[in-house]
Amino acid sequence: MKKLTILGATGSIGLNTLDIVRQFPQKFRIEALSCRNSIETLAEQIKEFKPRLACVDTIEQARELRESFCNGHYALETKFVCGVEGLVQISSDPEVDLVVAGIVGAAGLRPTFSAVQAGKIVAVANKEPLVMAGELFVKTAKKTGAKLLPTDSEHNAIFQALHDEPPDRIARLFLTASGGPFRDLPLDEFEKITLAEALNHPNWEMGRKITIDSATMMNKGLEIIEAHWLFNTPVAKIDVLMQRESIIHSMVEFIDGSFLAQMGLPDMRVPIAYCLGWPERLPLEIPRMDPVSLKTLHFEAIDPNRFPCLPLSIKAAKQGGGAPAVLNGTNEEVVAAFLNEKIRFVDISKTLASVMRKLDETLQQTVTDFPDKIPDFLLKIQTLEDAVQADQWGREQARKMLEQVL
Ligand SMILES: NC(=O)c1ccc[n+]([C@@H]2O[C@H](COP(=O)([O-])OP(=O)(O)OC[C@H]3O[C@@H](n4cnc5c(N)ncnc54)[C@H](OP(=O)(O)O)[C@@H]3O)[C@@H](O)[C@H]2O)c1
Repeated sequence: MKKLTILGATGSIGLNTLDIVRQFPQKFRIEALSCRNSIETLAEQIKEFKPRLACVDTIEQARELRESFCNGHYALETKFVCGVEGLVQISSDPEVDLVVAGIVGAAGLRPTFSAVQAGKIVAVANKEPLVMAGELFVKTAKKTGAKLLPTDSEHNAIFQALHDEPPDRIARLFLTASGGPFRDLPLDEFEKITLAEALNHPNWEMGRKITIDSATMMNKGLEIIEAHWLFNTPVAKIDVLMQRESIIHSMVEFIDGSFLAQMGLPDMRVPIAYCLGWPERLPLEIPRMDPVSLKTLHFEAIDPNRFPCLPLSIKAAKQGGGAPAVLNGTNEEVVAAFLNEKIRFVDISKTLASVMRKLDETLQQTVTDFPDKIPDFLLKIQTLEDAVQADQWGREQARKMLEQVL
């Protein structure tokens, strides 16, 4: 029986993971769950899965939860921990075999890294930490024996297609993208895009941040950086293709001209189950794809004018150093502002472009903020703290620029 920690148990990845655990009670035991705000959902999960540990954001939340259980005369076996220390504790707990990294954004950096340091099997859905500090993750996993299992549907597809073939047999990796809700919208209508329209993804049901990243195509940009680290493949060999139906989840072209793709209905339970069961496959009960009903699959190139976040990400990926972490921090800041209806959809890519321009100027010493020395964290990410600082640098620049928009 595999013992699991789910970081972000109340989110889209967390709920899908628990759905699989429910199907295979003889194979998995939940040791620990976490959430930040959704404590009512967490309370239900505690009742159902009886984890040994549960992590919430604050001591007050932990107290509130404990009291609510006591009032219900429920025999509570769960111990509560809180904050980042709590997340680190549940991801490195000696009893745990596999950690599902399902927190959204940079908040997952420390807990996911602590799972890697502790040599766990880590199902990596939370891509932002890999974007911020990919090299550190890969090097540390090599040292500790941790296994990074790609859980993002595209990376999981590549993982399945590669099947342990070495990187020198890869000619190209093709990450597929649905194109999101604005793949056909006339460009002159982008100024009027509303939050509700941006949250209306045509093929996938996911958390709010990744849904906006899909609408801007920043998600694919982050995925290029993620694939670069997970598959030890140069950014120049990673392409993005639009695949409207979200049936081909990604493809590998090998050096002999063979293409291998992984297909299926868009359902995150498939890649998550692959990681939970790895190296075995689980007989999952889910709606199945009927190949006859597919009729046609479309592949199209991505228009960079429609999705300017994609070329910005590719540039940051090639630049390396602190650029991907700056890009990620900036993106989190502007997406939060858009989700709070403080800025327009088009301001997301405009602000990102301005911050990345500011980064270039800073690296070329053409601005006076850092007259003596370019901060090391912008040049190279050597520690987790460097990644946090580069992320914060991007957020701060974004906040300053947004002040002018607001
Ligand atoms: N959803 C998908 O289908 C999908 C597919 C591929 C990759 N991913 C990646 O998986 C990650 C999770 O995505 P999601 O769609 O599941 O997000 P989500 O639905 O927003 O869920 C996020 C989870 O993280 C928790 N959380 C948020 N901020 C936190 C913080 N500061 N500290 C601790 N916990 C925090 C949330 O708790 P509360 O509920 O209490 O707020 C929730 O449990 C993202 O990195 C995303 O890119 C997701």
